[in-house]
Amino acid sequence: MKLLEERIRQEGLILSDTVLKVDSFLNHQVDTALALEIGREFGRIFAGRGITKVLTIEASGIQFAMAAGIALGVPFVYAKKKKAVTLSESVYTAPVHSFTRQETYQISVSQKYLGPADHVLIVDDFLATGAALVGLVDIVRASGAKLAGVGCVIEKSFQEGRSLLENKGVEIHSLARIASMAPGEVHFIGNETV
Ligand code: G4P
Ligand code: NA
Ligand code: NA
Repeated sequence: MKLLEERIRQEGLILSDTVLKVDSFLNHQVDTALALEIGREFGRIFAGRGITKVLTIEASGIQFAMAAGIALGVPFVYAKKKKAVTLSESVYTAPVHSFTRQETYQISVSQKYLGPADHVLIVDDFLATGAALVGLVDIVRASGAKLAGVGCVIEKSFQEGRSLLENKGVEIHSLARIASMAPGEVHFIGNETV
């Protein structure tokens, strides 16, 4: 997605060879028009597939899942990282290992909002190590829902997330794929999106 690549070039702060800060338009302050355009792009990629629900994880996947849900005319659900105080509901859970924080936490989705009748599109902001996305894929499979694929806003292709998901048979579409980066420069892999 050219528009997104341009914004990354203009406003992205490359903090090291592996960390990209996009707080001015994606991760802290959110450019709402760009978020909606990102949603429309996911909508175009997954059109006609019979998607019934978009799934993401809190916090920074939410605005893109909402935008994709608007484009596809379906609800979105976000997995929670903390156990709800009200433990009355049955939930699907999956462990996620955070490499940045060196800890494992549980993510959960109520069984009320995901089931065998669903056809799910998973959306997230970053595809990095893929740990959180693997957790979401495991939850979709545990629910009996069908998985259409994963849509990521930014993929750091030099990290292992894509191959981890591909090994699980997951279809992945990323709107900006970064082959490599260093302070002051970023190299994208060409892709099918506009
Ligand atoms: P992950 O690949 O499963 O997300 O795990 P990892 O431990 O690699 O990343 C930890 C968090 O950092 C994740 O957010 C992930 O989206 C985010 N992240 C990874 N690489 C980058 C990067 O280059 N830039 C930015 N801005 N974020 C990155 P999270 O823990 O799910 O938190 P949240 O922000 O969604 O609440
Ligand atoms: Na995220
Ligand atoms: Na994040």
